Amino acid sequence: MTGPSVTGAVAGDAQARVNALRALLERHAHAYYVLDSPTIPDADYDALFRELEALESAHPELITATSPTQRVGAPPLPAFTQVRHSVPMLSLANGFADEDIVAFDRRVRDGLSASDEVAYATELKFDGLAINLRYEAGVLVEAATRGDGATGENVTTNIRTIRAIPLRLQTAQPPAVIDIRGEVLMYKADFARLNARQRAAGLKEFANPRNAAAGSLRQLDSAITAQRSLRFFAYGVGLLEGAAMPPSHAALLDWYRQLGVPVCEHRKVVAGASGLLAFYREIGEKRSALPYEIDGVVYKVNDATLQQQLGFVARAPRYALAHKFPAEEASTVVQGIDVQVGRTGAITPVARLAPVSVGGVTVTNATLHNEDEVRRKDIRIGDSVIVRRAGDVIPEVVSFVPELRPLDAREFVMPTACPVCGSTILRLEEEAIARCSGGWLKCAAQRKGGLQHFVSRRAMDIEGLGEQLIDQLVDRKVINTPADLYRLGLVGLAELDRMADRSAQNVLAALEKSKATTLARFIYALGIRHVGEATAKALAAHFGGLDALLAASEEQLLEVDDVGPVVAGAIRTFLADPLNVELIAQLRAAGIHWTETTARVNAVLPQSGKTFVLTGTLPTLTREAAAALIEAAGGKVAGSVSRKTNYVVAGSDAGSKLAKAEELGVAILDEAALLQLLND
Ligand code: IVH
Repeated sequence: MTGPSVTGAVAGDAQARVNALRALLERHAHAYYVLDSPTIPDADYDALFRELEALESAHPELITATSPTQRVGAPPLPAFTQVRHSVPMLSLANGFADEDIVAFDRRVRDGLSASDEVAYATELKFDGLAINLRYEAGVLVEAATRGDGATGENVTTNIRTIRAIPLRLQTAQPPAVIDIRGEVLMYKADFARLNARQRAAGLKEFANPRNAAAGSLRQLDSAITAQRSLRFFAYGVGLLEGAAMPPSHAALLDWYRQLGVPVCEHRKVVAGASGLLAFYREIGEKRSALPYEIDGVVYKVNDATLQQQLGFVARAPRYALAHKFPAEEASTVVQGIDVQVGRTGAITPVARLAPVSVGGVTVTNATLHNEDEVRRKDIRIGDSVIVRRAGDVIPEVVSFVPELRPLDAREFVMPTACPVCGSTILRLEEEAIARCSGGWLKCAAQRKGGLQHFVSRRAMDIEGLGEQLIDQLVDRKVINTPADLYRLGLVGLAELDRMADRSAQNVLAALEKSKATTLARFIYALGIRHVGEATAKALAAHFGGLDALLAASEEQLLEVDDVGPVVAGAIRTFLADPLNVELIAQLRAAGIHWTETTARVNAVLPQSGKTFVLTGTLPTLTREAAAALIEAAGGKVAGSVSRKTNYVVAGSDAGSKLAKAEELGVAILDEAALLQLLND
């Protein structure tokens, strides 16, 4: 025969296309999971994936175990088998206080008889599960959990569904055997989506991303794991045969990255205890902005030879230390559930807790958000619960511990009357929130809330008028409305508890100063429902003056950017109340003023229609100042980067927003370039 047969040619073409598709899919997955910079949209990836699936089903002889299509589809297991680790999987010694770190560094230097500073590799301590990945001749053959460190569970079929984990190492010369060790975890956003799906399906929610990752990996049916968006970061090595051990921890991770295995991007080699502590502080500040949860940072002597010299104590290496952050979660007991009344009358159930330290702060109250949330989470009085406090957010009750529920645990009953003013509590059918119907006239809680909002920094910015002072003023019936604030005198103020003459004078000065304001701040300060800062600014820009706003019909309000029927309705309802109209008149009579502009409905400013996003710390401008300059030039400031963003203004320590801007090709400005643009 001369030349290949016709079918042979077709199969050859198919083989070539299959190879090309696999290479493309692997490259895109690598860009996404290892380099953290996606190259194509998900839909395009899916299209390539489907093309490969179709070709493989037409030519089953071309299917290989490492094809990207072969991640899912293994039959469910009856049980996990056991895997004995070739090299035990150890744990880490923990440190908490700065002294623990200094002591660790001293132990290391003593152990090495080193007089100079030691170089440490620093990285994140991921809050997930430790996994060992065995690659033979570059192919993933087995994956096991840590178990007791000596023996773990064989979770290979589940691990194969994780796209971040390569089925084949990207190298022509793979080691004969390598155990790559690292952490499987779930990103916070994927965790939130998973819980939303569980809720919609009436299934149990997971308490945190770590439990979700563990639960997902413990599935006997890998089809379930495949739907769970798990991730992986490598941080260690077990058995290695047929290749030289890299000379340092940093070199090991660099090598992994080359092999196509994801590693932590927040890593550094630092010198001595001071370098370790600086890294700890740096990551502590970034912690809440990371897309995944960490419970600390990890320090490892960088040099592999020195690591060996130091060896192990018990089940942890002497060369490494985990420096833990204060826990963001803690367990405690619900002693009662009360309700709080907000400035719009919103009734929020609040759990009263046995005091517990969470992330270094003592927590005694945690929000339960609303009535439905209490039912959904099934939190009862007497329950042991997990409380979480992440970053600056209000502490919340995450879940209760079923095993510890006492027999006499009591369910929460939404009161029918406002605990502050006794008015009826109403809950409109379509709303999740129950409200006190008293309004600020009857309800002191709403009066206090309204006043607190009025004086707040982003509203009238009246310094020195804190919550306790407002409480006293309202309780003693010295003031009822924001207009009363401007009638306060030195004598009345100085009579209050813990109020020296001097502070009273400061409050009066702050009140005086607040009279010169902007229309947007004034509108925002009124506390109209659904009118936040952005809407207040849009209204001020649109109408230019207060009278035009007061006279606006619902149709005219709807012409304003960002104002829909709900907001327009809320504004009309507010202004239809003679008490509110009177309040506005009194405030103006008290001397509150601003510069009115001509309505700029159609005025085109240099940056009209342009959207800016601010990120990081600018060298001289505060965030507020930068935003004010942008808005004065007609631009808008948004909170997140999207394709619609025109400019990202980045300062030092800019994080994910900057990365997103680079990924989307959005123009990036520093402060100088911003000022230049606004001046042009
Ligand atoms: S190294 C011999 N590095 O922390 C050293 N562990 O408390 C073994 N972990 O079981 C571990 N991030 O699950 C190491 N960057 C990191 C880590 C890390 C998280 C976990 C791991 C380990 C546990 C030890």
